[in-house]
Amino acid sequence: MSEPDATIRSIGVIGAGTMGSGIAQVIAQAGFPVTMVDRRDEDLVRGLKAVEKSLGRLVKKGTLDDAAAQAVRGRISTSTDVPRLAGADLVIEAIYEDQSAKSELFRSLDGVVDHAAILASNTSSISISALAATVSHPDRFVGLHFFNPVPVLPLVEVVRGLQTADETIEQVTEFTQTIGKSPVVVQDMPGFAVNRILIPMINEAVFALSDGVAGRDELDSVMTLGAGHPMGPLTLADLIGLDVCLSIMEVLHRDLGDDKYRPAPLLRKMVASGKLGRKTGEGFYVYEGAA
Ligand code: CAA
Repeated sequence: MSEPDATIRSIGVIGAGTMGSGIAQVIAQAGFPVTMVDRRDEDLVRGLKAVEKSLGRLVKKGTLDDAAAQAVRGRISTSTDVPRLAGADLVIEAIYEDQSAKSELFRSLDGVVDHAAILASNTSSISISALAATVSHPDRFVGLHFFNPVPVLPLVEVVRGLQTADETIEQVTEFTQTIGKSPVVVQDMPGFAVNRILIPMINEAVFALSDGVAGRDELDSVMTLGAGHPMGPLTLADLIGLDVCLSIMEVLHRDLGDDKYRPAPLLRKMVASGKLGRKTGEGFYVYEGAA
């Protein structure tokens, strides 16, 4: 596959976790070279392993052949140095959800990339307008919110900050289409669109569990069998991470100021006890052999 014809050609992804590695993978699958940056080599190795596993699934089911998977791997380079992204047209940040860590990263990126580069955040809950305020070209700052598992789910929420220029929206919208995703432009409001709807549903399922409406398995079954969801809300909470669900509920509650977004006490208790879902081996379910 030759490199696609596009205005955005050189791409960096910062953060090699589930989201960052998934984003790097879909970009490489679309034929673009991509540099994945993280602070430690072991984080980059873990990210590449996740890509390997996902490519393995695609090869197994015949979506990709071995040679194409090999080419995808070859297009992903890794580095622990942010300055390696100096020539990037687009940098997508996908580090942990911490506003000061993200702001600090964008401030350092600002001194590295060209003034024409677009900076994007995959944040699920932090204000894009606030992050944009940390860089010298806030008109070229935008939210690009992907969904887990990134190689499977088509949506990218393109989040327009108060300062984001129309041209930036157009360029990233075109880019997300080029990498095979379906962009939807949304405004910079707490939770954007998906999490404004999805996470309160999960929170309500946790209230229903603690109210004894039904058991864990039954609550998941009613939503798969009765509403056609691919997985029940408690299973989904474990996939997303209970800490992430709680932090999004806290943002909705605080920034929209409405008690209908009050986090379920059981959700708080589980996060406080370290049961965060798949990533810790236990959430509403137990995951044998998980890290
Ligand atoms: N890479 C490549 N392929 C993958 C994959 C991965 N990481 N994960 C799953 N797949 C593929 C499987 O190979 C399988 O392909 P085929 O159907 O072609 O065989 C397909 O996806 C379905 O996978 P499974 O059969 O293993 O399992 P499933 O049918 O239960 O689907 C699922 C799994 C795709 C996760 C599905 O249950 C699903 O879409 N669940 C909802 C996930 C969701 O809502 N995510 C959004 C979370 S919110 C978020 O991410 C944003 C935020 O800010 C919090």
